Amino acid sequence: MSGAAAQVQADLDRLLPILDATLTRPFLEGEAARLGEAVRYSLKAGGKRVRPILCILAAETVGGTADQALPGALALEFIHTYSLIHDDLPAMDDDDLRRGRATNHKVFGEGHAILAGDALLTEAFGVLATAELEPARRAHALALLAEAAGWRGMAGGQALDLEGEGLEAYDLAHLMLIHRLKTGALLRASLEIGAVLGGAEPAAQAALRAYGEAIGLAFQIQDDILDATATDADLGKRAGKDAGRGKITYPSLLGLDGAREALSEATETALCHLASLPNRDSLAAWARYLAQRAK
Ligand code: IPE
Ligand code: IPE
Ligand code: MG
Ligand code: MG
Ligand code: MG
Repeated sequence: MSGAAAQVQADLDRLLPILDATLTRPFLEGEAARLGEAVRYSLKAGGKRVRPILCILAAETVGGTADQALPGALALEFIHTYSLIHDDLPAMDDDDLRRGRATNHKVFGEGHAILAGDALLTEAFGVLATAELEPARRAHALALLAEAAGWRGMAGGQALDLEGEGLEAYDLAHLMLIHRLKTGALLRASLEIGAVLGGAEPAAQAALRAYGEAIGLAFQIQDDILDATATDADLGKRAGKDAGRGKITYPSLLGLDGAREALSEATETALCHLASLPNRDSLAAWARYLAQRAK
C-alpha cells in the first residue's frame, strides 16, 4: 500500500465508526415512519463519506477535534445524500441504481424520495442549530452551509447541469462553473466548516477553502471520467450515462486524456494550498487518493 493509501485507510478506520454510529440518529424516532425509513435507506446505503471525513480532518489539521466537527460533518452528509436522492429522480438524471442499491424513488416512490431529500436538507440545519457549539462558530458554519447548498451553490449548479443537457456548444469556463457549483461548493464547504468548527485562524481557513475548491473540481472531473470508463458494478451507480444525456462533462469537452490532465492539475493546485499548514499529511493523502479512486 502506498503512503497515501495507508493514511487514507487509517483515517477511514478511525472515522467511519464515528459516522456510522451517529448518522441515522436524528431519523430514528418520528411519526412519519415510512419517511424515516426512506431517509435511513439512503444514508445507510454505504456512500464513501468523503465530505464528513474531510470536514473532520480539516478541524484536526488546525488543532481542533473530531467531536467539535461532528455536527458539521453530519450536516454535510445529510445535504449530500439529499442531493443524490433528488439527482436520481426521473425529472433530473433518472437513475435506478445508487450506492449499490435501487434508488430511493424506485423503492419508496417519487413523493417520498422528494420528501426524504427535504427531510435531510432540513435536518442538516437542525443538527448544527442544536449542537453544543460556540455561538460565533455555529453561525459561521450555518452561513457556509446555506451558501454551499443553495442556489449560489449545489442547487444552482444542478440547475445549470440540467439546462446544459440541451446546449449545442459550451466552453471550458461554463463547464468549470457547473462543476464548481454542483459539486465543488459542498466539498469546499466541508473543509471550511471543519476549519471554522475546529477554531482555525483566518489564514488557515483561507488555505483550506482554496484546497477545498481545488479538490471539489478534481472530484467532479474524476466522477465524469469514471462515468465514461468504469462499470455499474465498480461504481454502484449506472455508468456511461452522461454522454447519452448530453451532459456537460470534462471528457465530452476535452477527451479522456484532457480530462485526466485537468484532474492532475486540480490535484496539484489542491496540494499547493496545503503548503502553509503544519499538519497537512492527511489532507495531502486524501487529495491524491480522490484523484485515483476507482469508485
Ligand atoms: C457522487 O458523490 C456525486 C457527486 C457529487 C460527484 P460521491 O462519489 O461522494 O457519492 P457517495 O457519497 O460515495 O455515494
Ligand atoms: C451530481 O453530479 C452532483 C450532485 C450535486 C448530486 P452527477 O449527476 O454526475 O452525480 P452522479 O454521477 O449521478 O453520482
Ligand atoms: Mg446529475
Ligand atoms: Mg447523476
Ligand atoms: Mg456523475
